[in-house]
Amino acid sequence: MNTPQKTTGFLQGQKIYNISKEPPLFFIMMRLNVKVALLFLLSIGVLTIVVLYSVCGNSSSDWQRLKYNNIKNRAFDLQEVEEIECDINEEYTIMFYGKSVTYDGLERFEWSHSYSKVHPPKARYDPRGVFMYFENYNVEVRERVKCVSATDGVPISTQWESQGYYYPTQIAQFGLSHYSKNLTEPEPSRKTVENAEYDLAKWLVPATAKVERYFDKQVGSNVLKFATSENYSDGIRLKMDHVLYFVMSVHIVLSGNSSFSVTLQNRETAEIYNLHYITSDIWITVQDKNIYHGISSTQEWKRITRDLIIDLQKGLNYLDKDKSKHKITRSKLKIINITLRGSGAIDNLTLSSSEHIQQFYDAAEWFVKHQDAETGGWPIPVKRKLAFAFHDLQPGWYSSMGQGHAISVLSRAYHHSGGDTRYLTAALNGLKPFRISSSDGGVLATFLNKYHWYEEYPTKPASFVLNGFIYSLLGLYDLMVIAPPGQAQEAEFLFSEGMASLKNMLMLFDMGSTTAYDLRHFTVGIAPNLARWDYHATHINQLLLLSTIENDSLFKQTAERWIGYMNGKRAEHN
Ligand SMILES: *[C@@H]1O[C@H](CO)[C@@H](O)[C@H](O)[C@H]1NC(C)=O
Ligand SMILES: *[C@@H]1O[C@H](CO)[C@@H](O)[C@H](O)[C@H]1NC(C)=O
Ligand SMILES: *[C@@H]1O[C@H](CO)[C@@H](O)[C@H](O)[C@H]1NC(C)=O
Ligand SMILES: *[C@@H]1O[C@H](CO)[C@@H](O)[C@H](O)[C@H]1NC(C)=O
Ligand SMILES: *[C@@H]1O[C@H](CO)[C@@H](O)[C@H](O)[C@H]1NC(C)=O
Ligand SMILES: *[C@@H]1O[C@H](CO)[C@@H](O)[C@H](O)[C@H]1NC(C)=O
Repeated sequence: MNTPQKTTGFLQGQKIYNISKEPPLFFIMMRLNVKVALLFLLSIGVLTIVVLYSVCGNSSSDWQRLKYNNIKNRAFDLQEVEEIECDINEEYTIMFYGKSVTYDGLERFEWSHSYSKVHPPKARYDPRGVFMYFENYNVEVRERVKCVSATDGVPISTQWESQGYYYPTQIAQFGLSHYSKNLTEPEPSRKTVENAEYDLAKWLVPATAKVERYFDKQVGSNVLKFATSENYSDGIRLKMDHVLYFVMSVHIVLSGNSSFSVTLQNRETAEIYNLHYITSDIWITVQDKNIYHGISSTQEWKRITRDLIIDLQKGLNYLDKDKSKHKITRSKLKIINITLRGSGAIDNLTLSSSEHIQQFYDAAEWFVKHQDAETGGWPIPVKRKLAFAFHDLQPGWYSSMGQGHAISVLSRAYHHSGGDTRYLTAALNGLKPFRISSSDGGVLATFLNKYHWYEEYPTKPASFVLNGFIYSLLGLYDLMVIAPPGQAQEAEFLFSEGMASLKNMLMLFDMGSTTAYDLRHFTVGIAPNLARWDYHATHINQLLLLSTIENDSLFKQTAERWIGYMNGKRAEHN
């Protein structure tokens, strides 16, 4: 079927989130006159009109985490995209995705079979360019991100453990999304609040405190030095009335017990919130309207980049699990003061519309600092059970997807920094687990003693998860293209081995009406684990991308058939 021509339909850019299982019946995207549609729906018994979710163009493989994102954008996105559950003969239910639209003078109900979106690549994939379609991702907003650590500027995951932990795959996606946004979004606007170059800003200094402009020889720049009274109750305050930009960046040194605080006010309710950046190892803690993020190691100059809206929202979520109660949008907020307590120094304090490249480098630095030098891995510190049939992965396991994504980040950092070898060294070292079998702590599985496969989850027995494997191939490809001549062989070898396996094994994932997420039906002899629509769409997006770097008709033809499945087509029977 052709795609409708109007611009608001969900096939053009919207996605609807399913909260039940995938439909057992297959419907073709169709346009019906709205009355016919309603009659039809009534005739098979409309049970519920489930919550409407709207979207910001993401087609991620973890859409559930993005619901929060959707709710956030609901204000301008709340259109008639509906998710309708229909009860059929009181035996089972199916989900519809659709909306009513009017064009050419007719009201219609547009009904679709899946909720996910295919992103055909716009050009040949370039490892120096955007990663897949990650410019649409907003990782830090996801519900399963506890907060963004103020110590290293990367997200803390709660996906498999509620206390929170560093999850390399998520950190890399955060980095890759900011890198991609840097290439696709408009130039940031930036307001300098304090750089101590000439006069200082109009800080209100209590009698017991002092500020001074000071030339710091170490950084070769004038900075603001401050000290307040022993008990820190009286801060040095800069009164503000700022509504435009909420991404803050500052160079900072803080002695023990000192803090840097930003006071935000809700312009509608006049409620006041304080974001405190304190010297501590905690990630986030909240007391009333005070949200604390800890920065460890603050004796030396360091630059912190904070999305104040994210920090506020994470704090409010922490306070109360009912997220909707504390929904705050940018347009409702203003910054009313910035307060320094204790003693320390600041420089280059700015507020910007975005700081994507800084946030990208925060991720890249994390990978440089947290790699196991010996194994080259970025360990995942939590236990993971893929399914009943597999042994648990014990804390400290490596993922081919985490490794591959990290290598994608580091390759781009090496390129963008103009050749900083720390990034290249870490990326090359990150290849090591690809040669080590899963049973020995690596990520390598071998299918029928023949094809090498890099495991997203290095399970026993092997699971052969498709999307994670292809992501790892992209990491290998990125490094093989970006590494200087003479240093690309290992990545090239691993990539070509992986591509050969993919070509030989791809069809094992084709289930005739959808795809399999992994090969557990083969390796442990249970029912296939069918990919839900967003993973199915990810498979298609990955094949389309691979087909831009390797001209093999297998990828294109398969992707086209799989797109057909999303539109209700099935393989022919005999
Ligand atoms: C992207 O990064 C470059 C620095 O490499 C910077 O000059 C530019 O303003 C950034 N653009 C965006 C949209 O972040
Ligand atoms: C502040 O920015 C200037 C200009 O980029 C730089 O020279 C200086 O070192 C920075 N200050 C600190 C403390 O890093
Ligand atoms: C903090 O110190 C100031 C002066 O140094 C003093 O006036 C004030 O009472 C002290 N506050 C507390 C809570 O100790
Ligand atoms: C920080 O403050 C606490 C209590 O206010 C005090 O016990 C501790 O000694 C202080 N630490 C430093 C390094 O000033
Ligand atoms: C921030 O500013 C408001 C209004 O200007 C003031 O009432 C409040 O005391 C300030 N908060 C801090 C922590 O300085
Ligand atoms: C890909 O291969 C086909 C034939 O196998 C050829 O017709 C086509 O021009 C090739 N495309 C590119 C971009 O190389």
